[in-house]
Amino acid sequence: MKSPLASVIAPSLPSVQAPLRPAVELPQTGQNLTPWLLVVLVIVLFSGGLFGYDQGVISGALHGIQNTFSLSPITVEVVTSWVTLGALLGALAAGELADGVGRKRTVLIAGALFTLGSLVQALAPDTVVLVAGRLVIGAGVGVAAVAAPLYAAELAPTNFRGRFVSTYQFAITAGIFLAYLVDGWLSKGDSWRMMLGVSAVPGILLFAVALIAPRSPRWLMMKGRREEAAAVLVKIRPGVDFNPRLDAIETALKEDGKKASWGEVFHRQWRRPLLIGVGLAVFQQITGINAIIYYADQIFASAGFTSQAAQTTVTTWAIGGVNVLATLIAIAYIDQLGRRKLLLAGLLGMAVSLVIVGGAFEFIAAPLAGAVPAKGPSIAGIVTLFALVGFIICFAFSMGPVVWTVINEIFPGHIRGRAVAIATAVNWGSAFLVSQFFLTVIGAIGNSATFWLFALFCVLAWVWIYLRVPETKGQSLEQIQQLWKAPAS
Ligand code: BGC
Repeated sequence: MKSPLASVIAPSLPSVQAPLRPAVELPQTGQNLTPWLLVVLVIVLFSGGLFGYDQGVISGALHGIQNTFSLSPITVEVVTSWVTLGALLGALAAGELADGVGRKRTVLIAGALFTLGSLVQALAPDTVVLVAGRLVIGAGVGVAAVAAPLYAAELAPTNFRGRFVSTYQFAITAGIFLAYLVDGWLSKGDSWRMMLGVSAVPGILLFAVALIAPRSPRWLMMKGRREEAAAVLVKIRPGVDFNPRLDAIETALKEDGKKASWGEVFHRQWRRPLLIGVGLAVFQQITGINAIIYYADQIFASAGFTSQAAQTTVTTWAIGGVNVLATLIAIAYIDQLGRRKLLLAGLLGMAVSLVIVGGAFEFIAAPLAGAVPAKGPSIAGIVTLFALVGFIICFAFSMGPVVWTVINEIFPGHIRGRAVAIATAVNWGSAFLVSQFFLTVIGAIGNSATFWLFALFCVLAWVWIYLRVPETKGQSLEQIQQLWKAPAS
């Protein structure tokens, strides 16, 4: 995938056990990207990239797998969806791991799972082994989906935190796009083993980079290892006085106690952030993104893009490519404009786009899951294309990156690992339900009404976010924690 940035910058890095030295006090706003923070970014890029790639690649690989193993329809569904199941389980386990063995080691485990899962899939002699490989890769996706953004949120300087976590979303979209491209390149011939196996390479690179990466200072403080936490801060942000930061972390931890059980995550005190995290996770999915990502080919076929080549091109570039580019908008503006403005503007655009798609389908005769019209795209088909591009742009600068950012910054340190894991697992569960039942819902209420239903969910999400989700831009994780002390408005 990408060149191992770490190997380029590693030689110039200070030793991992950098000695404690008094730091010159600099204002917090003067924080720059140091090489160690770039290492954190590389971890985020590989984790998100693998998430996106392994999620996106299966649509192109299925045909070849079917030829090799003559799958029954049920096995096709299992091969497709058990990644989601593995991700759900991986996400839940990752909360425990991230708090227990630490964020960095959890990323190492994710790298190992990605590598193992890719190899098992690529070498599978039968469907049972293939499905086992799908589960393992899914577990890797789930573990990485919790550990990487959490790690990034805890290591990023406050004024870069939104960008760091948005980079994770950028990597997911780049992974999906890359998967579409690889599917296109390898579609001729029986190259499914290559499509699935190639992600072992970034898996190994993720593992290698995580080996040299610093530990999360917040996790070290949770474990009472202040000196090591100080050493990490000196290393990643030389020149910034680490004592006020460590004191703030310590106070926050003291206020909330060190040991968090699962019961504590559900304690009344944390109900607001938990509802916000879970609510955002659900709304991200039920507003339709993966129905469009997974079924784009079929939607475009119904809209009159009849040839396979036309569908692949439109899906790859209009959905995959646009998704990557528009995520850059979030990276550029999330720490300036804030989370709420992006979310509210994006949801408005998503709702309008979906209303237009639903309207256009009123003029398209062919049912989405059924026959394809014989001629090329009609005006309604072109309108659908543009409206879907609008939807993807609006999602990519709002509900995609901002949801992951907020989920990773709202929870107090001692429950963060588990709470993020719950929100992530709920996100995967919702993704599974939407992708599983999209065609069924279309069969029951029709194309237009289905897109309008997604639009309705966008409106509900808008109102709920407007009323319930506070702005977290520019606040340290410890300051955000204080928000939950005030009574809900
Ligand atoms: C979502 C994924 C989705 C992707 C699309 C992510 O934020 O969690 O479910 O496929 O965005 O870009």
